[in-house]
Amino acid sequence: MKKILITGALGQIGSELTATLRHIYGTDNVVATDIKRTVREVSESGPFEILDVTDGTTMLNIASQYQVDTIIHLAALLSAKAEEQPLLAWNLNMNGLINALEIAKERNCQFFTPSSIGAFGPATPKDMTPQDTLMRPTTMYGVNKVAGELLADYYFHKYGVDTRGLRFPGLISYVTPPGGGTTDYAVEIYHEALNCGKYTCYLNKGTYLDMMYMPDALQAIVDLMEADPAKLSHRNSFNVTAMSFDPEQVATEIKKHLPHFNISYKIDPIRQAIADSWPNSLDASIAKEEWGFKTHYDLASMTVDMLEKLNYNRPIAS
Ligand code: SER
Repeated sequence: MKKILITGALGQIGSELTATLRHIYGTDNVVATDIKRTVREVSESGPFEILDVTDGTTMLNIASQYQVDTIIHLAALLSAKAEEQPLLAWNLNMNGLINALEIAKERNCQFFTPSSIGAFGPATPKDMTPQDTLMRPTTMYGVNKVAGELLADYYFHKYGVDTRGLRFPGLISYVTPPGGGTTDYAVEIYHEALNCGKYTCYLNKGTYLDMMYMPDALQAIVDLMEADPAKLSHRNSFNVTAMSFDPEQVATEIKKHLPHFNISYKIDPIRQAIADSWPNSLDASIAKEEWGFKTHYDLASMTVDMLEKLNYNRPIAS
């Protein structure tokens, strides 16, 4: 039975992943940690500890106290926030990661941390971006993600730590809002469509980015962590994606259910520049080959589910 430590457990991925892992592996076997106690369902539904990931001593104490054998390291600043505060991003994203890797080495833990489409840069091939390709990101977040992928590979090759990772696209969920990412519009648009019937988008039409619905992202983490290590030639990190769209396409899909919905544009130059430096679409074939990556939701089925789940009172006809 796994005994799992999750950092950043109250964040966008963590608050749902904690519940999923508690369901699979047992509540007491999943220790959630975060810098503060904000999401009560997570912090009160099983073991929870306050942890600032830049404090390696406390992280080690918690890992030892609960005898963990798996670390899922999620605590990080997302792309737009990292661009506003690059030094904070470097400190949190890199020192947090190396603390977690050191503990994985000490305790011989299996290890997962997410990378991102943000690891790619403007010189990367934009369409069907291959698994192994040129990576010269121009954002602090991207620099952190590439360094993180290399660091996780280093701990595997040098110390034999079973490190694994996924390059996530924008993640869309009806449960927890993202915070400070470039792909956040793809979540906000559903909330605003239901609340106001209109949405002002900070990315321009024609800005294509990869996306994935949260249930598929959670399943991908579980499947990768359960994958036979003998089959993994790559480890940190696999390209994964479920769909690629621009704001107009989401708006068109929403209009099928809410015909009066209207999208307009007010471009945020910082987030637009970040999005323009990222791929239009990823090639996830290596993840499919090595550990059977699959998704269930496309834009149409995700839109039906998002609108249904967000709109408790009014069932949406599909
Ligand atoms: N969703 C993330 C962001 O926009 C990408 O990894 O920062």
